[in-house]
Amino acid sequence: MKQTIKKLLRDYIADLVGDVSFEILTPPDPSLGDYATNVAFVIAKKEGKKPAETATELKDALESTLGEMATMQVSSNGFLNFFLKPEFLQKRLLEIKSEAQYGRGGEGAGKKVIIEYPSCNVAKPMHIGHLRSTIIGDALANVYETLGYDVIRWNYFGDWGTQFGKLIASYKRWLDKEAFENDPVGEMLRLYVKFHAEAASNPELEKEGQAEFKKLEEGDNENRKIWSELREESLKDFDRIFKRLGTRAFDQTKGESDYESELKPIIAYLQEKGFARESEGALIIDLAAHGLPPALLRKSDGATLYMTRDLASLGDRIKTYQPEKILYVVANQQALHFEQLFAAARDLKLGDAGLVHVKFGMVLGEDGKKLATREGKVVAAEEVIDKIVALARKKVIQKNPDLSSDEADKIANSVGLGGLKYNDLKQHPHSDIVFDWDAMLDLSGNSGPYIQYTYARLANILAKAGAYSDGDVSMLVEPSERALMKKLLDFPDAIGESAKLYTLNGLALYLYELAHAANQFYEQVRVLEDDNNDRKNARLTVIATVASTLKQGLKLLGIEALERI
Ligand code: ARG
Repeated sequence: MKQTIKKLLRDYIADLVGDVSFEILTPPDPSLGDYATNVAFVIAKKEGKKPAETATELKDALESTLGEMATMQVSSNGFLNFFLKPEFLQKRLLEIKSEAQYGRGGEGAGKKVIIEYPSCNVAKPMHIGHLRSTIIGDALANVYETLGYDVIRWNYFGDWGTQFGKLIASYKRWLDKEAFENDPVGEMLRLYVKFHAEAASNPELEKEGQAEFKKLEEGDNENRKIWSELREESLKDFDRIFKRLGTRAFDQTKGESDYESELKPIIAYLQEKGFARESEGALIIDLAAHGLPPALLRKSDGATLYMTRDLASLGDRIKTYQPEKILYVVANQQALHFEQLFAAARDLKLGDAGLVHVKFGMVLGEDGKKLATREGKVVAAEEVIDKIVALARKKVIQKNPDLSSDEADKIANSVGLGGLKYNDLKQHPHSDIVFDWDAMLDLSGNSGPYIQYTYARLANILAKAGAYSDGDVSMLVEPSERALMKKLLDFPDAIGESAKLYTLNGLALYLYELAHAANQFYEQVRVLEDDNNDRKNARLTVIATVASTLKQGLKLLGIEALERI
């Protein structure tokens, strides 16, 4: 709605003063209207007039175009305030209800966006940071898709580097075959830990690891085979976790190793063109002009690096898709890496895709410290999922002891994941987030389950009502009805902002407020017991529209909306 008003204003004033920047605000005091704008200040300043005078001129001029939507008032200080008309809200309600997917937009038509997440590392468990990346990346991809973009969900897993030499050395010495068959990821982790424990007292092992990696790079059959096996088992396990999380399928899954064969020619090209140079035996791209430390392409021992592979992969992404944007959903800790990567890409003129590092913070425990296992290690994603689903199950059964075990599982899974995802998305991604397990599942707080339960409550009313017609929407005059109809109008803005800012917290907050307004409405008016059929049906129309908007919004956040909880 804000966007609509802004556009109308902008179109109108374009002829008068050209393109100027102004705001559409929501006044803190509802008696000042539903929306307000400072546009008159901006124009008056340019033209040396009084803001109130300009605002009055704007009001008179716009009455004919905006008049159907809102009445306007000029405040004494020059703000132009808009009061949405009840008939307009009622008309929009019916229009929104008839839209198959309210919130869909066309701004992305014909544009491609690559969104990369979570890019886990082979031979290691998916950890809690990757879990954040998955939750944020999947939701952002949904949001871009709903705006009409052609979204390429890209998973770029870490499957190359000297650590694989170490793992192969450890595998050859200490593999427990049976353990590997039962729990390949667990065994890989054990082998990794074992290697490092042993290497502390046996320096020969490091060399052995390096030699094994060199053999792997050179295509040694046995090492290739071991590496492929580790990779395959890991990917299978990641897939299993993505399924549990309900993450949408990836369009591209590539590993760092997929770029290995391209690195030599790329490096040769960069040297030839003078982009890369030797420094203390290593090969670097100098980024001093950007105020950044150099990007390291090749170490003095000849090994290529994370950066080199990222450059190759970026080249591949741009060449294959010519995307409008590439979003990398990766933890804050890698901020410098991405600054360097993006600076190098600019210098190398890799193309003009907008490159964005969508950063996110750490996960903290209830004590405010980084969430870790008892031994101080990073927490595995799956432990978090298990824990929240188990807690949700307890709650679900408490609320409804008659559920069958299967039903309880299904609901607990959906509510647990809803709590987990929403807790992540409702906060600004840059900040560290706290895992307060109870708050995540709090049915009366700002939580995923609160919205899920509100949806189920509305679905339940609709199921009880059975078939109904639109009713007489002109009877929707209660403040709680007005608030709800007005809130519905803001859904497209919430989606658009989300995409623009690369954050989901605005959309999450929107859904919470919509759910809250729905609960207030339901507490204040009678719906099913109303003996005025026209009003009852109109209210059911409100409920159905809010329910489908909540469902649509939750879906964007990757959260399931169950009809029955
Ligand atoms: N595999 C890396 C990690 O887990 C993340 C990769 C991020 N993406 C990238 N294009 N470098 O830390």
